[in-house]
Amino acid sequence: MEYPEKLVITEVGPRDGFQSLKKWIDTSIKVDVVRKLFHAGVPRMEIASFISPKAIPQMSDGEEVVAGQKIQDMDRAVGLAANVKGARRAWECGIRTLTFVISASEAHNLSNVKKTRDQSIQELAQIREAFPEMGIKLSLATAFGCPFEGEVKDQEICYVIDKAIAYGVTEICLCDTIGSAVPSQVRHVVDTIQEVYEGKAILWSLHLHNTRGLAAANTIVAMQRGLRRFETAVAGLGGCPFAPGASGNMATEDLVYMAHRMGIETGINLMELLEISEYIHEQLGCRVDGRINMKTVHLVQ
Ligand code: COA
Ligand code: ZN
Repeated sequence: MEYPEKLVITEVGPRDGFQSLKKWIDTSIKVDVVRKLFHAGVPRMEIASFISPKAIPQMSDGEEVVAGQKIQDMDRAVGLAANVKGARRAWECGIRTLTFVISASEAHNLSNVKKTRDQSIQELAQIREAFPEMGIKLSLATAFGCPFEGEVKDQEICYVIDKAIAYGVTEICLCDTIGSAVPSQVRHVVDTIQEVYEGKAILWSLHLHNTRGLAAANTIVAMQRGLRRFETAVAGLGGCPFAPGASGNMATEDLVYMAHRMGIETGINLMELLEISEYIHEQLGCRVDGRINMKTVHLVQ
């Protein structure tokens, strides 16, 4: 079949989206947005970061955001960390799946987490040891291009993936942090990892920023190559404060609209999602970067 029957979408707006907004967002609004998104049927969501509050003050209330939820199945809630301290904070407040971030490029890793890639890998090894029951998803930033180093070679991607697999990571998300990927590149990278890691039980996903408007095209190519896990952000929020020029993710509503019209299931209620997008716009005053809204969702106006 050319396309999967079902997509598994991880919503990253409350993490990747909120981290990119400087003006303080009240914890109650963060709690509300997460609740509404789960209610809309989002199967999985990055709901908070457990990083240094000095690095990104906006994300300093991770524990409170988690405490504000009544999540029955904690496997649906993911927290981001970049060191052991963050993993401990996440574990102690009930998070059971961690996004651990390492960049494919050394320069971005240094900018983002003030560590070399090897130091981050050591941190990952310590987390594995300290929290053996924690599920860990590696988010491989700058896998399709780096704001400092430019092109990122396959060897650099595989260098980090090899080590992560050696430390027992079974889920890996390739991130186009600065939205520089083009469809032929996505095809090449997806084919390469599927070939190199054939036979390994890894769940692969993609996280595509829409900086240059190519996230949907890149998603289509990835789906055609067999991927069905994607990370997107409601209202097209998103961006990395440590990657100059990075802007929003593919909007969840755009992917859900496209998928449903292609006969692909997502389990997400599109109309509820559009209401959440409007709610975010009203509450935070930020621009909604999705193309699908209450007007465009209908074929005939
Ligand atoms: N949670 C809370 N506080 C933390 C922390 C965490 N996970 N990690 C470090 N800190 C605190 C330390 O306790 C220390 O506090 P102090 O100055 O009061 O003693 C301070 O932060 C500096 O700690 P240090 O270990 O020296 O960190 P650093 O300055 O080398 O920065 C990181 C490294 C990883 C902590 C920081 O770069 C970071 O949090 N980056 C995250 C970036 C991010 O989220 N990017 C977007 C997602 S991809
Ligand atoms: Zn991102």
